[in-house]
Amino acid sequence: MDDTVETSLSDVSAAPSIDSHEGMSLPRAVRIASSGSYDSLQRHRRRNPRARRPVKETLDARSEYTTSQDDGTAEHRINQYIIKQEIGRGSFGAVHLAADQFGHEYAVKEFSKSRLRKRAQSHLLRRPRGPRRTDTEFNSPLHRHPSQDDSENAKNPLYLIKEEIAIMKKLNHSNLVSLIEVLDDPTEDSLYMVMEMCKKGVVMKVGLEERADPYDDEHCRCWFRDLILGIEYLHAQGIVHRDIKPDNCLVNSDDVLKVVDFGVSEMFEKDSDMFTAKSAGSPAFLPPELCVAKHGDVSGTAADIWSMGVTLYCLRYGKLPFEQQSIFELYESIRNDTVDFEDEQDEIFMDMMSRILEKDPAKRINMRELREHPWVTASGAEPLLPYKENTAQIIEPPH
Ligand SMILES: Nc1ncnc2c1ncn2[C@@H]1O[C@H](COP(=O)(O)OP(=O)(O)OP(=O)(O)O)[C@@H](O)[C@H]1O
Ligand SMILES: [Mg+2]
Repeated sequence: MDDTVETSLSDVSAAPSIDSHEGMSLPRAVRIASSGSYDSLQRHRRRNPRARRPVKETLDARSEYTTSQDDGTAEHRINQYIIKQEIGRGSFGAVHLAADQFGHEYAVKEFSKSRLRKRAQSHLLRRPRGPRRTDTEFNSPLHRHPSQDDSENAKNPLYLIKEEIAIMKKLNHSNLVSLIEVLDDPTEDSLYMVMEMCKKGVVMKVGLEERADPYDDEHCRCWFRDLILGIEYLHAQGIVHRDIKPDNCLVNSDDVLKVVDFGVSEMFEKDSDMFTAKSAGSPAFLPPELCVAKHGDVSGTAADIWSMGVTLYCLRYGKLPFEQQSIFELYESIRNDTVDFEDEQDEIFMDMMSRILEKDPAKRINMRELREHPWVTASGAEPLLPYKENTAQIIEPPH
């Protein structure tokens, strides 16, 4: 059992633990005490999210840089939010802790508009010639067609992250990080996404040759159940995440795991089988069917399930299951190598992992089978609530 306590379980107001990493302040992966209170059945019974408030879009935000009257330190404000320390890094800017006028805390993700515009242009240049797929075409993603309409984008810079916003607006589930507001300050280079705060940061920091302390069985099971509920809901909304990994699994002050980062997610038409030929995601978490050049359409849901398995392996063993120095060797290893489960004694766990990390996506376990697997349900003693009871009705914003 891992009994290390590095973050207080009870102190909700405590500042997140910070690791100094190459000059940056990054949240330390949570290590949470085994308090004996991980009653998975109770935990997963309690989750019934309420109707969500519509996401606010603010196009005339104002950034202010002032000096704090309390201690003379510099203060950055965006409208009602006071921006505090950096808690993470995204590919288009930093993620900061922020507090509003009532002291409620949020995570604010920043995007550089100039970098987003460069990305949009390079997408436009790379777009294949020939007839464009239309949005009504079978199985075509509903977004990710780079904008041809620059005037649209000049009028409303939020257009630059419209895919991520559109996806997050659709979501209302306690195992997915929710979006509260998006802001643009027309006089600055940044766009901001205000999200619910996950105080304990990433569930684990693990990477190529980066080891972490593994979690005990009960934590692994509890968090994997959270992951199942979040991703099952996501898939039911016609969205595949495509970048599931410990770095995108955050933990809040109640020790609930929430999936974040819909930057490469894809949204499909209703009743689509969610097949896609797009390659995205982090190499070590890619399924074998995406580790080949010029792969055709693959199942987005089966790909997410593979990445969930790689994530669970990380939580349980504190390291990646496939680790190679070059991308070529890594892809070859994912396609051909069997995973080393050290001297794992838990046969039920082994059975589930072998069905998740099944190389053939057509034979891989599906979400319905996974949520009923004896390792997940403690041999039937702790079944997950049926899907419908775990989701809230989404209330459409008034028009
Ligand atoms: N809601 C949140 N609460 C706490 N920390 C967060 C939150 N959102 C993001 N972070 C921190 O910031 C990091 C980067 O955020 P995120 O994963 O959204 O960006 P990214 O990986 O660069 O995404 P993108 O692919 O969209 O650029 C996370 O790994 C996490 O450490
Ligand atoms: Mg991320």
